[in-house]
Amino acid sequence: MSDKKRVAVLISGRGSNMSALIEAARASDYPAEIVGVIANKPGAEGLVTAGHNNIPTAVFSLKNYADKAATDAAIDGQLQAWNVDIVCLAGFMRLLSAEFCAKWEGKAINIHPSLLPAFKGLDTHARALDEDVSEHGCTVHFVTADMDDGPIIGQVAVPVEFGDTPGILAERVLKAEHKLYPWALAQVASGAITFEDLKD
Ligand code: GAR
Repeated sequence: MSDKKRVAVLISGRGSNMSALIEAARASDYPAEIVGVIANKPGAEGLVTAGHNNIPTAVFSLKNYADKAATDAAIDGQLQAWNVDIVCLAGFMRLLSAEFCAKWEGKAINIHPSLLPAFKGLDTHARALDEDVSEHGCTVHFVTADMDDGPIIGQVAVPVEFGDTPGILAERVLKAEHKLYPWALAQVASGAITFEDLKD
């Protein structure tokens, strides 16, 4: 039996970070395998990509459940059914309930397009340009109930260049994300970095 960690990726849209994880997990010595993809919207483009890669998918829309707790309980049920060890949020644009975050503490990680703790939340690239920072980037961190706030696993900085628009900057950061996320997942899956080590 494989000793690779079983990973589910949660997405809301394009899924380019999901694709980077799928690609990395093809290597025989990568310590994780992608066993399922969950979206909160049936139209999430990444679902198609997951299907092309023969990865099982599931959709859990808030509107089909009584509330967020019920939706997250359904997601948790799917994760159990897939026997998931690690959850990767990859552009999953909805906050998970405190109960879900507590249950998956130390086993759920998220990628965010800024050098946290700077620019939590949305529109990070436009806000970085507004503040005239010289460096921007991305972060992978453990998920806690507070938005974009858990212990940091790794970050990559990119320069902000003269003439950058939010779109140009987003592309530069995204390239860094596609390198950072596979690295960060490998650290967590192999046990090289743990929540216990990082939390204060
Ligand atoms: C990525 O830039 C990711 O960092 C960001 O959404 C994008 C998803 O792109 N996530 C967040 O803003 C979460 N706070 P992708 O679907 O192509 O991976």
